[in-house]
Amino acid sequence: SEDELHARIVAAKAALGDRVVILGHFYQREEVVRHADYVGDSFQLAKAAQALPDAEAIVFCGVHFMAETADLLSAPGQAVILPNLAAGCSMADMADIDQVEECWEQLADLYGPLDVPDADGLLPVIPVTYMNSSAAIKGFVGRNGGIVCTSSNARTVLEWAFARGRRVLFFPDQHLGRNTAKAMGVPLDRMPIWNPNRALGGSSAAELDDARVILWHGFCSVHRRFTVEQIEKARAEHPGVKVIVHPECPMPVVDAADEAGSTDVIRRAIEEATEPTTFAVGTEINLVQRLAAQHPQHTIFCLDPVVCPCSTMYRIHPGYLAWTLEELVAGRVVNRITVPDSVADPARVALDRMLACVP
Ligand code: 13P
Ligand code: SF4
Repeated sequence: SEDELHARIVAAKAALGDRVVILGHFYQREEVVRHADYVGDSFQLAKAAQALPDAEAIVFCGVHFMAETADLLSAPGQAVILPNLAAGCSMADMADIDQVEECWEQLADLYGPLDVPDADGLLPVIPVTYMNSSAAIKGFVGRNGGIVCTSSNARTVLEWAFARGRRVLFFPDQHLGRNTAKAMGVPLDRMPIWNPNRALGGSSAAELDDARVILWHGFCSVHRRFTVEQIEKARAEHPGVKVIVHPECPMPVVDAADEAGSTDVIRRAIEEATEPTTFAVGTEINLVQRLAAQHPQHTIFCLDPVVCPCSTMYRIHPGYLAWTLEELVAGRVVNRITVPDSVADPARVALDRMLACVP
């Protein structure tokens, strides 16, 4: 039962003491989050993983790309454990390394050698990957002069890229790329989508030639469900409502909202409200429900009336957390995530560039 699992996790954690640190993403269910030593957005958790050199193991309650990133940034010899190996991210899976390499070759056909700067010292294209991508993709980016971003620093990272290149290739999330570039003043007609499946309609050579940001076709299946109609309904039913959404939502939704930001920006906006306020939030339901429980002075609800969970985040069941911790108590490391050196070295270059421009 839930109580038994809770007691097993508490007992295993007590037996392990400082040897283990549990990190939890904001989208984790309450029965998991209550055991986490640190709870945060993907950027905060990456930084936390870097700052725990004394722990033998980091148990990462989140999704696969986050655990990979923790392995890249954690101390050598430290084990990063993902309680359920099936906890992936459908968006991260939308950028496959072979497709990205193919895209890069096509862009080289169009723009000429991609490692040769022009008279102004700018490269033809700088690759930028959202944190929500495999370590292999981060490695590709590191090898090709690019950088990683998260939803909390995408704008600063794009500024870094535009200081070095004529164009940006942004993957996997088209919405974060479009929303961020639009806020920076890039016109929509200079943001074509590169589509690996030309049968579904790709961008013309002319569009790509004039591009400022070449978007990938990926999206988050949770955030793309939010709609402008939901925002209009919330405004009609709750005059004065404040609408905050994640930048993985489609552009019309971000435009219709009062604010858009990472999971931590959403959390802070609510925490900092001094007057009782009604908030309609466009992000994953576990975070929305936790914020509602923590702030009874406010009215907080999810924009999507049909509950909107991230099914892969939800795969971190407390049963798996109990099991991985108990195995550690018994001296066994299970579900370890390790990135091979050949990928890890360039991937770290791309992450370090992000950490240098957004400390
Ligand atoms: P944050 O970077 O805001 O934590 O978002 C991660 C994520 O997976 C959003 O869907
Ligand atoms: Fe991936 Fe979306 Fe889930 Fe975030 S909410 S982990 S982007 S599927």
